[in-house]
Amino acid sequence: MNRTLVICKPDAVERGLVGEIIDRLERKGLKLVAAELRRIDERTAARHYAEHEGKPFYHDLLDFITRSPAMLLVVEGPEDTWRIVRTLMGPTDPAEAPPGTMRGDLGTLLTENLVHGSDSAASAKREIENFFPALA
Ligand code: RTP
Ligand code: MG
Repeated sequence: MNRTLVICKPDAVERGLVGEIIDRLERKGLKLVAAELRRIDERTAARHYAEHEGKPFYHDLLDFITRSPAMLLVVEGPEDTWRIVRTLMGPTDPAEAPPGTMRGDLGTLLTENLVHGSDSAASAKREIENFFPALA
């Protein structure tokens, strides 16, 4: 089995969409192996988004992801589960995400795009270690 990290971002929790997001993951056939509602601290957020350090949107991104609690999930499925989750999520910008995807159905703004999913097997491993060291 294969695991990946999913974050229902603060906008999803604020809007009451966590159940909808988990429902879509479970109906797809993925299994929850960890779930925790947690306000992400600055250091964990900075490690998580280290690849974006120096970009113009970096500080806004950290402010956003730490502004209120997020629902952190580890989900399990077959090979390359990270890719299955990314397909369900849709493209980064909800304005371009097709209907049927989480971002396409539920969002409008690039900066409030509801959900994070690891973007490779290596990212999934690194991100699970960052948020759930006991699972690693
Ligand atoms: P995420 O990491 O949050 O799952 O999103 P992603 O892989 O689809 O997109 P990524 O390129 O990793 O960007 C991370 C988040 O930064 C915000 N963003 N803002 N203002 C901008 O130009 C800009 N570009 C990206 C998005 O909210 C994106 O989810
Ligand atoms: Mg990303």
